[in-house]
Amino acid sequence: MRIGILTSGGDCPGLNAVIRGAVLKGDRVYGHEFVGFKWGWKGVVEGDMIPLDRHRVRGLSKEGGTILGSSRTNPYESGGGPENIQRMLDRNGIDAIIAIGGEGTLTAARRLSDDGLRIVGVPKTIDNDLQATDYSFGFDTAVGIAVDAIDRLRTTAESHRRCMVVEVMGRYVGWIALHAGMAGGAHAILIPEVPQSIERVCEWVESVRDRGRAPVVVVSEGFHLDGMDGAHSHKGLDPFGRPLLGGIADIIAPMIEERTGIESRATVIGHIQRGGAPSAYDRVLATRFGLAAIDAVTEEKWGTMVALRGTEVVSASITDATRRLNAVPRHRYDEAALLFG
Ligand code: F6P
Repeated sequence: MRIGILTSGGDCPGLNAVIRGAVLKGDRVYGHEFVGFKWGWKGVVEGDMIPLDRHRVRGLSKEGGTILGSSRTNPYESGGGPENIQRMLDRNGIDAIIAIGGEGTLTAARRLSDDGLRIVGVPKTIDNDLQATDYSFGFDTAVGIAVDAIDRLRTTAESHRRCMVVEVMGRYVGWIALHAGMAGGAHAILIPEVPQSIERVCEWVESVRDRGRAPVVVVSEGFHLDGMDGAHSHKGLDPFGRPLLGGIADIIAPMIEERTGIESRATVIGHIQRGGAPSAYDRVLATRFGLAAIDAVTEEKWGTMVALRGTEVVSASITDATRRLNAVPRHRYDEAALLFG
């Protein structure tokens, strides 16, 4: 078979390891050939691709970013659509597509698959917001980077007896905040699934101060305080029409300072969480996803994606994965909240 691979949506560490795993197994075990579409679905729509052989993917598992580039292009727009894409695939002798991406990418992949295209998905979400897979690569790396930042902020906070408000990624779900906050010993964790009042946050902060410690609050970018309409956004919309997030820490820190008198600072970690080399865990998971994706293509499991269940990589329906978000269950938040304050 001749297979085209694409990476689409926001990037995350581990994308290159998926590509390497798929190409190496596809070449060695099945004798498949590969091309890589440039810039996500844009490359599929425009027929923009590069050859991918085993030499091109050498040493890639430790490399951040994606050698194929990524974009948030919708394959049903800008001259795309199933007929045009199928024509491009036929013209280039491409039998199947591996689409590596998050909720938007996989929803498009499912639609194209329903329209007859031969597609297998690989879930990619730094936020860990996809159903049907326990974890995806990139999440562990992001948590590690956030924990490192929290550890560093804690020492400077203690020196100045300040409150630090640390903002991490997490548009709709608070997994990064929950795990990074727990690992970093945060005194409060604020996530999109559980709005809180500023009074409650200040109670936690004051109780930490009263023990002579410097409070650390970890907040997801998608969190909103009681009374806010939704997540804070002041930067406009992304190409999918979603609000660009970021900045809730800058809202909360001055509120804490005003109400408690504790000098407070905000830090937004932002895209640092998505950059650089993947953790060892993510390299392994991403490589296993790549290996499993090439099995799924060979077995013609169109409309499915690879997924992690426990420690096993299995096949899951893309429809199931994209039906609803993988929110933090309330009991997981309550468990962490026992240690707040
Ligand atoms: O969806 C993953 C994510 O990293 C979100 O956590 C964040 O809101 C968004 O992407 C940022 O997107 P962009 O890279 O387009 O600014």
